[in-house]
Amino acid sequence: MVKFLLLALALGVSCAQHQNLEVSPSEVDGKWHSLYIAADNKSKVSEGGPLRVYVKHLECSDECQTFTIKFYTKVENVCQEHRVVGRKGKDGKYITDFSGQNYFHVVEKADDTMTFHNVNVDDSGKTNVILVVGKGESSSIEQKQRFEKTAEKYDIPKENIEHLVTTDTCNQ
Ligand SMILES: *[C@@H]1O[C@H](CO)[C@@H](O)[C@H](O)[C@H]1NC(C)=O
Repeated sequence: MVKFLLLALALGVSCAQHQNLEVSPSEVDGKWHSLYIAADNKSKVSEGGPLRVYVKHLECSDECQTFTIKFYTKVENVCQEHRVVGRKGKDGKYITDFSGQNYFHVVEKADDTMTFHNVNVDDSGKTNVILVVGKGESSSIEQKQRFEKTAEKYDIPKENIEHLVTTDTCNQ
């Protein structure tokens, strides 16, 4: 019996670590701003990197079976607007094309922030990316610390965390 409980506990903990949070349109729809981004391949999210995304607006529909993201990227300092639609797959992750294939989901949510994990697959391979977006245009020390914990969870070095607020010059 004790063994069984320990097993249940262990499973519970491992699920909690990589949970797939359900979100509803009322939590998602609206304006958002990228606060921090990190990837195991840092050059993907550094300045000029293809996955350095400045989120502007999120929307989900059909009970969040689809998830629409409006964002900018900067190529040679020129802002380019993008709109991608993720469709929920069987495993609960959203699938969309952008700079390869992407499999993303919400891993944390709070009143004013939402954190995503994305797996990007392109010609150079697989990249793990985490991104936190906020309702406000500034970020706090506490949000940064929480994001560092999330990075740790996904084996992304702390040094790979990029602050996006200061370089967000698109659509001001
Ligand atoms: C890291 O990203 C850069 C930029 O996209 C790419 O050229 C490189 O091949 C990637 N490295 C690895 C190990 O995936």
